[in-house]
Amino acid sequence: MKITIIGTGYVGLVTGACLAELGNDVFCLDIDADKIALLNSGGIPIHEPGLEEVVARNRAAGRLQFSTDVAASVAHGALQFIAVGTPPDEDGSADLQYVLAAARNIGRHMAGFKVIVDKSTVPVGTADRVSTVVAQEIAASGSGATFSVVSNPEFLKEGAAVEDFMRPDRIVIGHDSGAQGLRARELMKKLYAPYNRNHERTFWMDVRSAEFTKYAANAMLATRISFMNELANLADKVGVDIEAVRHGIGSDPRIGHSFLYAGAGYGGSCFPKDVQALERTARQYDQDLFILRAVEAVNDRQKQVLGKKVVANFGEDLAGRHFAIWGLAFKPNTDDMREAPARVLLRELIERGASVAVYDPVAMLEARRVLARDLDPAQFAQVRFAANPMDALDEADALVIVTEWKAFRSPDFEQIKARLKNPIVFDGRNLFEPEQMAEHGIEYHGIGRSV
Ligand code: UGA
Repeated sequence: MKITIIGTGYVGLVTGACLAELGNDVFCLDIDADKIALLNSGGIPIHEPGLEEVVARNRAAGRLQFSTDVAASVAHGALQFIAVGTPPDEDGSADLQYVLAAARNIGRHMAGFKVIVDKSTVPVGTADRVSTVVAQEIAASGSGATFSVVSNPEFLKEGAAVEDFMRPDRIVIGHDSGAQGLRARELMKKLYAPYNRNHERTFWMDVRSAEFTKYAANAMLATRISFMNELANLADKVGVDIEAVRHGIGSDPRIGHSFLYAGAGYGGSCFPKDVQALERTARQYDQDLFILRAVEAVNDRQKQVLGKKVVANFGEDLAGRHFAIWGLAFKPNTDDMREAPARVLLRELIERGASVAVYDPVAMLEARRVLARDLDPAQFAQVRFAANPMDALDEADALVIVTEWKAFRSPDFEQIKARLKNPIVFDGRNLFEPEQMAEHGIEYHGIGRSV
């Protein structure tokens, strides 16, 4: 099938590359000429396992092209995927300017029948707004074109995006029930047929419910995390090991094991933004989502938990102290630093007078860029970017782990002990067992482990 993807960010690029991998003829559009030039020279703007190979293979096969040519992009696809950013507005609601601009372009240039697919995470009612804008442009151009807008939210996780796209646990598609909506449904069914061969993974519903499903999923997951973080903080006080509790409750199939990990708080481009946007939607309808407000507040506090533990140990004044930090990206297997808990920790330590040596397996370049913005030049000078995890440890008063990269899971504890000034580890992701650390003679502070 001929497909256009508007926006080559996280979702757009992965969607485009993976749909090409299924044999479709995919045209990816972006207004960022530098990004398109990079993609056309074989580069990839983000770190995502497996993506580079999929892009290269499909470009070579002629099934995947990148361009800034709007008219050509609209002419190309029978399906027009809108996968542009929906950053938070000043009040936290989703800013739809890029989505509506994409819709306007489609309406202006289209002919015949097109299916417009909202792939971006957008609040309930956005498809209606997209329809209005497209219809206005068609009326203005006099092309007589027809269309239907469907909602097809994306559930992929950064760091596992290609895998998630190629093996979806569900495909959610919202369409309307008129003749054009049913025509759109047929095309979507054909597009996703390869995923439904063994068993049906598609959930068909109305457009608004599909839009809402995306927010409900992220809000539910964020709620589980904040709930566990809150319990972990209590566990710290009452002599309970949250890891034992996690196993104990997760084995109940009604609860399940996933997303029950207490830690240094959730980050990334999705949970913080989507929780906020759902709260704002509720407020527009005079409803107050107490739970989500609490989820957000607990997470803001949780991002400070490592800093608080360091202060409890070393005192308020950290002047002259030096700390090693492992893990900067908001989670493993990505170089994404958006809303990363490490940023909150770094600022706290440096504002209290400490210096730091940091290491992340892939986010070092991105960290330089982001931290140069977060910190003033004198503060930025207090950050040393280490060449490897062990190199970060020398002369440090303690090691603080913020992201659970696999490379940090089985380190040489004797070397850690030998290189640190004090054998103290603050583990923001509960990678190690307190007993194991005690055996190595390392003072260990986990999250919710009563140590
Ligand atoms: C999330 C959802 O998991 C995806 O399904 C969704 O498609 C995506 O948002 C999106 O809306 O685009 P992502 O933000 O890539 O994906 O990352 P997650 O793996 O969900 O992790 C989010 C944050 O929660 C990370 O900071 C992670 O460290 C934290 N987390 C996760 C915990 O603190 N505890 C857990 O048990 C799980």
